[in-house]
Amino acid sequence: MNVSPLFQPLDIGRLTLKNRFIMAPMSVHMTEDGSVTDKEIAFIERRAAGGAAMIIIGSICVRPDGNFGGQLFIEDDGRTEGLRRLTDAIHRHDCLAAAQIHHAGRETSMRTSGYRPVAPSPFPPEAVAGLQAEYDPPHAMSTKEVRDMVECYAQGARRARDAGFDMCELHCAHGYLISAFMSPLTNRRTDEYGGSFLGRMRFVTEIIRRIRELVGKEYPLACRIVGDELREGGIDMALAADIARYLEKLGIAALSVSAGMFPFVRTVSNMYHRHGVNLYLAENIRDAVHVPVFAAGQLDRPDIQLAALEKGKADALCVGRGLIADPDYPRKLREGRIDDIIWCIACNKGCHDRSAEDRSVKCALNVMSGRESEREFTPEPARRPQRVMVIGGGPAGMQAAAARRGHMVSLWDERRELGGRLRLAAVPPHKERYAEACDYLAREVGKLPIDVHLFHKVTLKEVREQNPDAVILATGSVPVIPPVEGAEQDFVVPADDVLAGTAQAGRRVVVIGGGAVGAETAHLLLEQEQREIYILEMRDGIGIDLPQDSRICLLRVFENSTDMHCLTNSRVTCVGDHCVTLMRDGHEECLERIDTVIMAAGARPDLRLKTGIESLGLKLLVIGDADAPRDYVKAIRQGAEAGRAV
Ligand SMILES: Cc1cc2nc3c(=O)[nH]c(=O)nc-3n(C[C@H](O)[C@H](O)[C@H](O)COP(=O)(O)O)c2cc1C
Ligand code: SF4
Repeated sequence: MNVSPLFQPLDIGRLTLKNRFIMAPMSVHMTEDGSVTDKEIAFIERRAAGGAAMIIIGSICVRPDGNFGGQLFIEDDGRTEGLRRLTDAIHRHDCLAAAQIHHAGRETSMRTSGYRPVAPSPFPPEAVAGLQAEYDPPHAMSTKEVRDMVECYAQGARRARDAGFDMCELHCAHGYLISAFMSPLTNRRTDEYGGSFLGRMRFVTEIIRRIRELVGKEYPLACRIVGDELREGGIDMALAADIARYLEKLGIAALSVSAGMFPFVRTVSNMYHRHGVNLYLAENIRDAVHVPVFAAGQLDRPDIQLAALEKGKADALCVGRGLIADPDYPRKLREGRIDDIIWCIACNKGCHDRSAEDRSVKCALNVMSGRESEREFTPEPARRPQRVMVIGGGPAGMQAAAARRGHMVSLWDERRELGGRLRLAAVPPHKERYAEACDYLAREVGKLPIDVHLFHKVTLKEVREQNPDAVILATGSVPVIPPVEGAEQDFVVPADDVLAGTAQAGRRVVVIGGGAVGAETAHLLLEQEQREIYILEMRDGIGIDLPQDSRICLLRVFENSTDMHCLTNSRVTCVGDHCVTLMRDGHEECLERIDTVIMAAGARPDLRLKTGIESLGLKLLVIGDADAPRDYVKAIRQGAEAGRAV
């Protein structure tokens, strides 16, 4: 593949990008009080060193009431010095720095910011299906308050320039304050800041004019807009193109095109979406204007990136999670080191889900991501190479085996291929990319002189014969079959067997347990053929342990199906002869003519070898699901920790 088009320079106003890779603005939640921390500098500098042409620091807050949690602040001149440390770190690597300045508007809460949210009109953000929205009704800003806010943005841009940022980007997207003024859905004002298109654009117009007064005409100013808000009555593609043309006339140097608004399902897309999911929106804007257009949304594969440029859909590529997963992506691509790239799989588990909980951004696959300043996470060669036996080739075991410490490592798994339960997680619809995660880890194992034994169930006798210095037990988990009367019958099967294809389901199915495994197994069966499916869940929601955005997508599928019945607050009391009795909201019900009952009631550690190994007196580390069944993010992290600990 000829990737050279991706490494052509691009002019943005007076700036020149050295290639087409821009790190997308991402608020990484590495601060508690809005100040720049060493942790964030280390994280950002690592990405600058990896070869991106520009890094946009996401959502720097222009006023404390606009804080959605964990943001950097630029509300005061006292912030400039800290931000300067950040721009210096970026500049050390021949990379440009941009500041995205931001106010959350209605998309925050009193609990988060300490202030009542403000907005053009008093509408709280949309409550999400099946999820608790904790948003307060916002205060509709008075005309004077809007004018005061114009000054906050303008001073924020001025401070960004003073802190050494090469460009300032106004966050005019995702339903936050500026876009809330632009959108007919959220702006119902009757003063000069609402009503017509020009009225709705007045807020951003005044901000841009005031910024120009403060920083001059030459300082590059960009806007991030949505190509479509994806809400009825909101900004659609035609209106987005009008907004783009209007902003271009105001002298904007570039436009960055994103999509959606809270709850951000296509703003930060997930495995339900294809690569380049929002590219058509960038193309629509690029057709409307002459300034450079940046596209975003899973543009993290070289073929998609090349097609985006060659087909004229975008001028530059905003890559977010791709650079969280692999900071060196641009460099590795240029050097042709494709096999070394850690591909983001859009799971959102290590990054976006954490940021939604105001926890610092990390990556499920790349344990170093978000830990750049933590020395103890950097693998160092072992002082004395040891014989390490890793039993279990799931994510935890593979990560532990591939610790690169110079030990003599053997890796054992009873299955025919490495991957463990994560291979099963890849089976339900839209979850195929979990297999990419397995492949990545297996590739890492394959690069090292690790003695891999597949399709081999290790016995205690073999452990004794191998006589290792240390054993890492990563044998995973086994399904829990709850002590329900009738659960031993033939038509009752574990969800894992259905996912593995070793058990078949009939036409009328009951799934006991509506957590991630149960819900996704039900989804698989729903897509396979016409079936009547009942999910029985004790809690009051289905798929509660799924990543939030995937859960929203899954619940939409279920809501749109007449064959799927989600029975929450339901407890199974007995499985009879092809029937299931349950208590639901205090009433007994019976589901009859059931062909298959699928048990998805959790898992317990598989510790068959543990006591025996302990009795051999060997150093033993138990990791992953064998320690406690959990998601693969923690399993991989534990694998890395164990790899360092032996
Ligand atoms: C953890 C995280 C934080 C984000 N924060 C911001 C932000 O502050 N401002 C913004 O405009 N977009 C933000 N985004 C959206 C990204 O800029 C980007 O458009 C989106 O993730 C899609 O690109 P990707 O698929 O390459 O990650 C964030 C995304 C993630 C994953
Ligand atoms: S946690 Fe998942 S979505 Fe986030 S960067 Fe890593 S692989 Fe990508």
